[in-house]
Amino acid sequence: MHRFKYRARSLYCEDVKVARIAREVGTPLYIYSKNTLLDHYRKIRDALREASPLICFSVKSNSNLAVLKTLVNAGAGLDIVSGGELYRAKLVKVDPRKIVYAGVGKKRDEIMDAIRYGILFFNIESHEELALINRCAREMKRKVNIAIRINPDVQVSTHGYITTGMGGTKFGVDFKTAKAIFRSSWKYRNAKIRGVHIHIGSQILDARPFQSAIKKVLRFLETNKIFVEYLNIGGGLGIVYSLEKPQTALSFAKKILPLVRKSKLKLILEPGRFISGNSGIMVTKVLFRKKTGQKNFIIVDSGMNDFIRPSLYEAYHTVRPVTKSRGRLKKTRYDIVGPICESGDFLAKGRALPALKQGDLLAIMGAGAYGYTMSSNYNSRPRASEVMVDRKKFLVVKKRETYKDLVKGELFRG
Ligand SMILES: Cc1ncc(COP(=O)(O)O)c(C=O)c1O
Repeated sequence: MHRFKYRARSLYCEDVKVARIAREVGTPLYIYSKNTLLDHYRKIRDALREASPLICFSVKSNSNLAVLKTLVNAGAGLDIVSGGELYRAKLVKVDPRKIVYAGVGKKRDEIMDAIRYGILFFNIESHEELALINRCAREMKRKVNIAIRINPDVQVSTHGYITTGMGGTKFGVDFKTAKAIFRSSWKYRNAKIRGVHIHIGSQILDARPFQSAIKKVLRFLETNKIFVEYLNIGGGLGIVYSLEKPQTALSFAKKILPLVRKSKLKLILEPGRFISGNSGIMVTKVLFRKKTGQKNFIIVDSGMNDFIRPSLYEAYHTVRPVTKSRGRLKKTRYDIVGPICESGDFLAKGRALPALKQGDLLAIMGAGAYGYTMSSNYNSRPRASEVMVDRKKFLVVKKRETYKDLVKGELFRG
């Protein structure tokens, strides 16, 4: 349950009118509900309480410092994938023993930085990566923990771009390679393999693929008499964008806990979207209306540079008017498109909405995950502002970029 609800005709985030924030901060604009973030974090934590899991929020889904700090203060750890995400993690002063570091292409300086900070685990994705981490740790006279990311080759019904646990993707290592790595682990004196990691994809609506992936991995450990302490099952829990009926945290836990109990391994999770997805919206303003052929277009002031999910994954996001019109009005079908010079620049297609006019505000729902973090400056457009709402108060937690920000670091001669 999120806290973006109508009171009379106005959309509110917690106890603040969305229209008021848009008026004061401008558009395009991301708005996050602090108490929705906390609710979602507590839901997954409490559902799995029996296993005392370490919940590492996936920074890539929403890396705003205010979001990270909110979750870290509530006890969350962080799942990171780059030196930049580690930098953010340090700024919010997360306990380093609550950081897990994934990603197929870690660089030497990123690895050393993470070793220096004392993170809990590197989730390694290749044999060569393990060798490099071991070398770095040896040079630094440190010992580090490793979890091997195994690609369990399970079928997941989600968009191909967010499927990561099937054979043929670049993620993790197959069972045969994992076995070879375990067999050669004596060589790596400074990098001890203490866990296994899986992350099979994103927006997964039922627990079955998780169950089969976990079963496969546990069977692998048992068959090969491999002993580790940690089982990291990644993220990937799906959420409601429109008519989906995803598993609840409780039903997920019911399916997963028996397996974890039997394995006696310590549990780690890396949810992103489940916590941040429905904790945020993007607000945009209608610039122009036009009709071409049979289509009604609404041109808004945010584009694929601000929110790329519809263009990249054909993701469906519910669009709501920030202020509802009076009475029961006839609806029109609109394509809601941005100002970017690409035909793929759209936020929604064929949506039935009450007649819109210039200046109206629209809310793109469920934009809290992979929204701002995937935004860019394409077409030299400054990135949007981000705001966090906590009950009756709101705070700008990221200022809108300026044209000066756009050219920062650029040089030319003559
Ligand atoms: C290794 C890893 N963990 C966790 C996540 C978070 O996934 P989600 O936001 O679907 O929970 C991702 C997303 O890509 C990932 O790659």
